[in-house]
Amino acid sequence: MRTHFCGLVTEAQLDSEVTLCGWVNRRRDHGGVIFIDLRDHEGVVQVVFDPDRPEVFARAEQARNEYVLRVTGRVRRRPEGTINPELNTGAVEVLGIGLEVLNASRTPPFPLDDEDVGEETRLRYRYIDLRRPAMQERLRLRARAARSLRRFLDDEGFLDIETPMLTKATPEGARDYLVPSRTHPGSFFALPQSPQLFKQLLMIGGMDRYYQITRCFRDEDLRADRQPEFTQLDIEMAFVDESDVMVMNERLIRTLFREVLNVELPDPFPRMSYAEAMARYGSDKPDLRIPLEFTELTEVMRAVDFKVFNGPANDPEGRVAALRLPGGGGLSRKEIDDYTHFVGRYGARGLAYIKVNRIADGTPGLQSPILKFLPDDVIQTILERAGAADGDLIFFGADKANVVNESLGALRVRLGQDRGLVAEGWRPLWVVDFPMFEWDGKDGRFYALHHPFTAPAVADPADLRANPRTALSRAYDMVLNGTEVGGGSIRIHSPEMQAAAFELLGISETEAAEKFGFLLEALNLGAPPHGGIAFGLDRLVMLMAGAGSIRDVMAFPKTQSAACPLTEAPAQVSEAQLRELGIRLRAQPGSAVN
Ligand code: AMO
Ligand code: AMP
Repeated sequence: MRTHFCGLVTEAQLDSEVTLCGWVNRRRDHGGVIFIDLRDHEGVVQVVFDPDRPEVFARAEQARNEYVLRVTGRVRRRPEGTINPELNTGAVEVLGIGLEVLNASRTPPFPLDDEDVGEETRLRYRYIDLRRPAMQERLRLRARAARSLRRFLDDEGFLDIETPMLTKATPEGARDYLVPSRTHPGSFFALPQSPQLFKQLLMIGGMDRYYQITRCFRDEDLRADRQPEFTQLDIEMAFVDESDVMVMNERLIRTLFREVLNVELPDPFPRMSYAEAMARYGSDKPDLRIPLEFTELTEVMRAVDFKVFNGPANDPEGRVAALRLPGGGGLSRKEIDDYTHFVGRYGARGLAYIKVNRIADGTPGLQSPILKFLPDDVIQTILERAGAADGDLIFFGADKANVVNESLGALRVRLGQDRGLVAEGWRPLWVVDFPMFEWDGKDGRFYALHHPFTAPAVADPADLRANPRTALSRAYDMVLNGTEVGGGSIRIHSPEMQAAAFELLGISETEAAEKFGFLLEALNLGAPPHGGIAFGLDRLVMLMAGAGSIRDVMAFPKTQSAACPLTEAPAQVSEAQLRELGIRLRAQPGSAVN
């Protein structure tokens, strides 16, 4: 149908005849001459129609935005003064000599160059939204990234193996999406939250190195970097330790950035323990581009006569920490109030601060609502430990450690953005030495920090049972600019250790047998040591594309309420379908169903 792509017509085609297909990007009538910017996936070219060919001209006059045209014409140089250096095709134009309207279009629901279209509308008409150059560019980047990752892994001897979508509940800790079985009335498949157990079975099956770019399904609360269905690059290797996995995957990601973005990432990636990340940044995915760090004050505050601080300081689960903002002394009362409100969203009950006017003046050189509660020597210690200088502002968090970490950690990122402190570039990081378990005081039980198949750093199940609270795991997360792009671990391959882990997680033998019996059996039938990782492909591409949300790098994402405005999924189904599945709906509050 066509000889060239619109966006690739250049001076190389001067004086030759081309046939192009595309959409009307814009049509302008210029006193007897019609200009149509014709757009395809490569870009836009200007086509000129003059009245010398009345029939063609008449058709051009009827064309409207987003009409689909096939144009034949001769490439010529644009007249002096009308050259557009911004466009690849900007030095030329096509004099139209033939025009076929392949399809008309109603007025599009939004102009393609409108930047402020609501997301609901963009998703409702995603196929229009996808015509925009920015979306085209992002999806191309995504395809290039996937190709680079596949090529690397293929070359390294990894096998691309598919695992089931209709499966059993898997253990990543979110809610499952369930699929009713017609042939087994009353039974349900779960869509996989990840291929975790299957990839372990593949290693037990002697496949040695596996990868898959695959969809995962998690019914969890959505955020900008979470979707109910998302894509993992999932990897597993046999006969490896954590260093083997980390080194291989660093090379993978370095190759990706080199091939797709022409960016050289550090070699090796720095590694930081979970404990250090929490102590310095209050986060297990610190954005190292932001030069702000916590100052530990828990022990300094044990003896002060100020309840807000000494309470958490003497609570075994409490923490008192400071965050120094260099040059923050100029913040207004209103700005500080806004930040106080901001940390409130993370559960902080206040945001004490000290403005450092003139250190040389001692306490009178400071300004703060809490000075009266703190003895001079404590104030001096705070200033020294935080490395305070004239003009700084020091914020304080005092609460349960997780509240301090989350609130001051979020404040650190927010201040970095608000104050222009986020450095350019890419700061990858491995976070390692995670605790094996997290104790939930409310539920009175342990949760797996990674998942229940992650190996502990101890070799003997008795050691794990003896010290579950302090046990570390053999897990690792890859963090890039403050986003967790991947996570994995060395797995448990001994049945005894797996039993100990289940026991500590409060999973009874019966429950373990019912849920994961097939895995336990496989561990008894010659399981090799193995480990792996999974990357969130959407998150990786989001960062590489500089997009603000993973929705912007997915062709057909869901909304915040996990729905698709285009297909209107999820939808009700017919009574007949339900009957066939043996399902009767419960009455929803306010609905007619009974
Ligand atoms: P994990 O649960 O950490 O590990 O997931 C791996 C990576 O997947 C991405 N990710 C998501 N991306 C978009 N939307 C979501 N809802 C979402 N949830 C997770 C993140 C994350 O780092 N089976 C293990 C991996 C392993 O141990 O090998 C797993 O799934 O980037
Ligand atoms: P109050 O004694 O409640 O008036 O608090 C004195 C100062 O401490 C105010 O600036 C509060 O914002 C701050 N503050 C109160 N609770 C906390 C907390 N848990 N962490 C940090 N600052 C707090």
